[in-house]
Amino acid sequence: MNVLVVGGDGRAHALTWRLARSESVETVAAAPGNPGIAAMGADCVPVDPTDPGDVAQVADDLDVDLVVVSPEEPLVNGVVDAVQGRGRPAFGPTADGARLEGSKAWMKEVVADAGVPTARHAAFSVDDEDAALAFLEELPGFYVVKTDGLAAGKGVVVTESIDDARDAVHRYLSGEAFGDAGRRLVIEEGLTGPELSLLVVCNGREGWPLAPAQDFKRIGDGDTGPNTGGMGAYSPVPFVGPDVVDEVMKTAVRPTLTTLAARGIAYRGVLYAGIMLTPEGPKLLEYNVRFGDPEAQVVLPRLAGDFGQLCYDAATGSDIAPRFADDAAVTVVLATEGYPTSSRPGDVIQGIEAAEALPGVTVFHAATARRDGQLVTAGGRVLAVTALAPSLADARARAYEAAGRITWPGVQYRRDIAEAATAAAVDS
Ligand code: AMP
Ligand code: GLY
Repeated sequence: MNVLVVGGDGRAHALTWRLARSESVETVAAAPGNPGIAAMGADCVPVDPTDPGDVAQVADDLDVDLVVVSPEEPLVNGVVDAVQGRGRPAFGPTADGARLEGSKAWMKEVVADAGVPTARHAAFSVDDEDAALAFLEELPGFYVVKTDGLAAGKGVVVTESIDDARDAVHRYLSGEAFGDAGRRLVIEEGLTGPELSLLVVCNGREGWPLAPAQDFKRIGDGDTGPNTGGMGAYSPVPFVGPDVVDEVMKTAVRPTLTTLAARGIAYRGVLYAGIMLTPEGPKLLEYNVRFGDPEAQVVLPRLAGDFGQLCYDAATGSDIAPRFADDAAVTVVLATEGYPTSSRPGDVIQGIEAAEALPGVTVFHAATARRDGQLVTAGGRVLAVTALAPSLADARARAYEAAGRITWPGVQYRRDIAEAATAAAVDS
């Protein structure tokens, strides 16, 4: 079949790369794609991926058999509705289901209906600043303030300082920090524990978990500094066994799918459960409505079998059976100086070929551009350097060796991706 991937981020590159390795897939095109995707020989169609009509038109023009959507914004805008409306299968939820990510307040409402364990929380709008500040006083010293709308993973403040939390409330509600996305917000109690990303493929009725992954949200080593879109990931996660996955499916994912169905929403595509493993058991932090970025860059290389067929089957309502290789994958995100507060475009990137010369290494492009024949930085998170190897320790060593071969002025990355997990895996 012929497939169109919507997006141009690192996850879109990983999706294209994995689809191209599927027996059922003849061609993969991307809208708009990126230089890494183009280097694979995939057709890159310059189109705004968030415009449902334009994307549906590209799918028609290319006469594709399946559309696979990478980022959340096209989903929230209704790209899947538009593609399906023209009689083509699309992997991803329709706009009604995508609200799980598009509005954290709505997500919390659904989750409460479904009885999913989650943090204590309340939602507030522009006129409720006093009530929001009063709610902060009720929380026991650990505060989380989130924009209601999309903010590329950066709209969350986690702090033990009530002054910082108050300040975030003010900057969000005034529109100063995130424009309209922040004029409504959610405040919740801070939870502690290791985090887990569980990506579940859904077919409109049921869900099947993919291999667990862990993501590194903060910019700095040792989980310090502000939140980012994700600075690295690894899979498998040594401290997450099948029992934990079963519990998350039982207490969170299945009740949520049932609650959505009762509201007339047949959820298809990936439901990404962001979980914190608290001392009282797994609690849901968030739902995303797509693969994780950079979790996709470690989960997809480990996926066995025909990924194109899996997406097609889920998109058309058939049952699936995801299988995973025993290998481990680690990805390290290389970002520009200043990320996540700013980014510096236009720096010349060197060393990708040398990095990919290492066995098992693939460099996924997240924000690159071609300028005068040279590859340059074009956003905050620029590359995801992924290594697949027989063990987590090998994958980690390989990913860092590869990352060390890539340079541009001001390149920054975390040095501790999968470090603790590797130590745990060796001890056990
Ligand atoms: P979200 O966009 O809701 O996933 O939040 C992004 C990140 O903020 C999560 O991956 C956590 O690292 C952190 N976070 C979110 N909610 C909480 C919470 N209730 N307690 C502690 N950390 C949280
Ligand atoms: N890596 C976090 C996300 O995709 O939202």
